[in-house]
Amino acid sequence: MRLDRVLTRRLAPAAAILLIGLALTACSDPQSTIEPKSDATQTVQNVYVIVFWLAAVVFVAVLGATLVLSIWFRERPGRVASQFHGNTRLEIVWTLIPVVILVAIFIPTATAIGDLEPDADNLPPGTVRVEAIGHQWWFEFRYPDLGIVTANEMHIPVDRPTYVALLSEDVIHSFWIPQLVGKVDMVPGRENAVIFTPTEASDEAYLGQCVEFCGTSHANMRFRVFVDDQADFDAWVEAQLAPPVAAETLSELAQEGAALFQNPILALGVTPCVGCHTVKGTPAVGLIGPDLTHVASRSTLFAGIRDGFQGSDDPERVQRELERWLSDPDDIKPGVTVRQNGMPAWGEHLTREQIAAIAAYLRELK
Ligand code: CUA
Repeated sequence: MRLDRVLTRRLAPAAAILLIGLALTACSDPQSTIEPKSDATQTVQNVYVIVFWLAAVVFVAVLGATLVLSIWFRERPGRVASQFHGNTRLEIVWTLIPVVILVAIFIPTATAIGDLEPDADNLPPGTVRVEAIGHQWWFEFRYPDLGIVTANEMHIPVDRPTYVALLSEDVIHSFWIPQLVGKVDMVPGRENAVIFTPTEASDEAYLGQCVEFCGTSHANMRFRVFVDDQADFDAWVEAQLAPPVAAETLSELAQEGAALFQNPILALGVTPCVGCHTVKGTPAVGLIGPDLTHVASRSTLFAGIRDGFQGSDDPERVQRELERWLSDPDDIKPGVTVRQNGMPAWGEHLTREQIAAIAAYLRELK
């Protein structure tokens, strides 16, 4: 075979695999568990490292011995294997080695579990307390000390401990922010908790998601965590506590939307917007769906599955996405109209103009 053919046939696939491998290692994964950005994930990472190197030593020793011995004792003409039964000294050695390895893994693991355990009655000074409540399929975040209620986006200050009480309104969910804290279940009727101190403020949000199968749209139940420096966090708190946008400053279309949103009998037999959602300072005081007082200040739509209001350079797309959601939310988050307390498909009850007006109102709830 000519050399150039050898090169294309043999080396090209190998080079492609190598390049893909390099590309995969080069990109930093925001859901990586081995790039810790908090004290809690660093504690877990320290255990990973110990286990990794112990496993590497076992791997090399076992495979190396297998290779060396199978070559050393390979079949040769005239050679007969020596016949014996048992070797007490060897048996003791290969029983003790795994015991030592397991103890070497157990001690740091048990210590780490103890270190990660939050103590609700004895929180470190300066701790930010958050309640995360799982719903099918979105996350509610309450800050009981600050009086803030929001959804799907959590803001926390860097270098201060955050204590998150984990609750559920319906089925079992699970809370996980790979770079900040390990996964813990959110169980109805029970309060679990996590505590962690983020060590790196970041403009990019940390990604979190539900990690317990909780129904059709489990995969669409995501959230973002913004680790702010103290000044940014204070500004966010102030903005969340501010009254919602004044009715008279809304655009004409948004004012029509507000009237529809606040109408207590929007369609016969269907719970109106105000029955489920809160917009502070208006007749909307529902507690079933997400609090929408400052919904347009969030960076994503529909529990982290679409880019949203903040930073969007395409308000028309946001308008279209919201209209699509209001008309038929199942199209974006399957199962959402049929579950208990589900979001109605307003496309069946309202005109396109009415839906466009409500979407415009939501876009102005900064
Ligand atoms: Cu909630 Cu999966």
